Amino acid sequence: MSLALASADSLLISSTADFIREKFLHEGSGHDWGHIRRVWQVARRLAADTPEADPLVTELGALLHDVADWKFHDGDEEAGPRAARAWLMSQQADPAVIDSVEAIIREISFKGLGVPTPMSSVEGELVQDADRLDAIGAIGVARAFAYGGHKNRPLHDPAVPPVSHDSFESYKQNTAPTVNHFYEKLLHLRERMNTPAARRVAEQRHAYMEQFLQQFLREWEGEDISE
Ligand code: ADP
Ligand code: NI
Repeated sequence: MSLALASADSLLISSTADFIREKFLHEGSGHDWGHIRRVWQVARRLAADTPEADPLVTELGALLHDVADWKFHDGDEEAGPRAARAWLMSQQADPAVIDSVEAIIREISFKGLGVPTPMSSVEGELVQDADRLDAIGAIGVARAFAYGGHKNRPLHDPAVPPVSHDSFESYKQNTAPTVNHFYEKLLHLRERMNTPAARRVAEQRHAYMEQFLQQFLREWEGEDISE
């Protein structure tokens, strides 16, 4: 597979990037254009090192992966695949490319600790890794609290223990304080990376998050004050 995209493909990618940038520029829950742009760039880098990955499907999957996320559409899992298909059809994209991108969007989301989320394509694995890398580390911490604020959640409540969700339905209904999300998802992403390259990056982002939580919980209890 050639790494250089044909010019029609480049045009489709740039029109998709413009469409998504416009839509997400002022988003305030951590799903802003910056998130999408980072996922796009990281997925593109991963694809450059993965000869069997189709760069067009990878880039479109990354750009469109949160186009109409169920989290912001009353839990509707079809909203994203539907919106991506409508956009790509309006751009006269190849039907096989549309099917592949739609599958990525349908499969990519974390659905609870006990729910496996295998991707059916190599391009999907790369986009999922890029999306998950953006959920951890310093940016991951910032995004989690931005999302919690957006949903009016308290930062932390030691009386509410973390839960391991065994179904997508129970994961979706969760309204726990934001610190719980680290134990219910973020600290487990390192183990769930599809590619060795993403796993390596995840290691140091994971260590940073653990350090953050340790300090957060010390301050919560005032332990650093009473020393
Ligand atoms: P996914 O599709 O896997 O959920 P997204 O890119 O849509 O990935 O966004 C996931 C991000 O949204 C999380 O990494 C986190 O920043 C935020 N988020 C989702 N649920 C919660 C939650 N319950 N508490 C805090 N942040 C959350
Ligand atoms: Ni995302």
